[in-house]
Amino acid sequence: MSRTVSFPGTTAVVTGGASGIGKGMARAFLAAGCHVVIADLDEAALAATAAELCVLGVPTDVTDPDSVAALAERAVAEYGEVHVLCNNAGVGPFGAVSAMSLADWRWVLDVNLYGAIHGLHAFLPVLERNPDWGHVVNTSSLSVMVTPPHTAAYVASKAALLGISEVLAAELRAAGSRVGVTALIPGTVRTNIRDSLRTRRPAANGQATGESGLYQVDLAESGRDFRWLDPDEVGAMVLDAIRADQLYLITHPEFADQIAQRYQQIAAGLPLPS
Ligand SMILES: NC(=O)c1ccc[n+]([C@@H]2O[C@H](COP(=O)([O-])OP(=O)(O)OC[C@H]3O[C@@H](n4cnc5c(N)ncnc54)[C@H](O)[C@@H]3O)[C@@H](O)[C@H]2O)c1
Repeated sequence: MSRTVSFPGTTAVVTGGASGIGKGMARAFLAAGCHVVIADLDEAALAATAAELCVLGVPTDVTDPDSVAALAERAVAEYGEVHVLCNNAGVGPFGAVSAMSLADWRWVLDVNLYGAIHGLHAFLPVLERNPDWGHVVNTSSLSVMVTPPHTAAYVASKAALLGISEVLAAELRAAGSRVGVTALIPGTVRTNIRDSLRTRRPAANGQATGESGLYQVDLAESGRDFRWLDPDEVGAMVLDAIRADQLYLITHPEFADQIAQRYQQIAAGLPLPS
């Protein structure tokens, strides 16, 4: 169903909005005239960013469905409606499949995948209530296409978000909904993700952390050859993608050949025509 997106006066909710890409998106929505609600687990960073941007900050743990439901209630109580949900909160530690504990897997999937599922569950009915338009932005990752070593838990969560975005977009289209979906697929962006173990709570998901196989890599050193974007550049791209109702937003077009190669390799696994 066709729709015209107009941002001024609408409300955008951004999880993981206290830092990095979330903060960049928050700034872009603000510049476009939106009310912005940022949600984050890191209460100190949340308070600082909310004060800096003069927006509402709601302490939220996306791994907890009740916390995300309370976020939706708070946003609606404050502004009456929500037009955009950015499922963006995420963690990006490294860990070999053979080294990660079950608690490691569960933490990464709880934040990156279940966090977004909780967002969809709480916010889709709110977005659907708008007579004009609504939009979901799910932050996936280019790592889904290039599958670097020691990123299995991360890639699993981000591949799931890509798949969910595709299915959701098709379901909404089939239902004639005015809610659109964008899978944000960033390459390297200058953020605090290299330090995401900082957000792991000792007994997240009711499980003791125990022996962990997770570690952090400062890609600033090893990723010197990559093109690093500023979160504000990504924020601007996201607004354009919402306006255009664009399903896939890949921030680094220079990966086109690698992406095409991946799908060619998959297609090469097809049985040869007899
Ligand atoms: N930075 C990159 O190069 C890059 C590339 C691809 C994808 N991404 C994705 O972008 C998203 C944003 O990450 P970033 O790079 O801006 O990192 P970041 O660490 O700067 O920001 C992530 C934010 O998520 C918050 N968060 C973590 N766990 C949470 C929880 N349980 N509940 C609520 N908030 C929580 C953190 O406190 C932090 O403020 C993530 O989903 C990440 O996987 C980042």
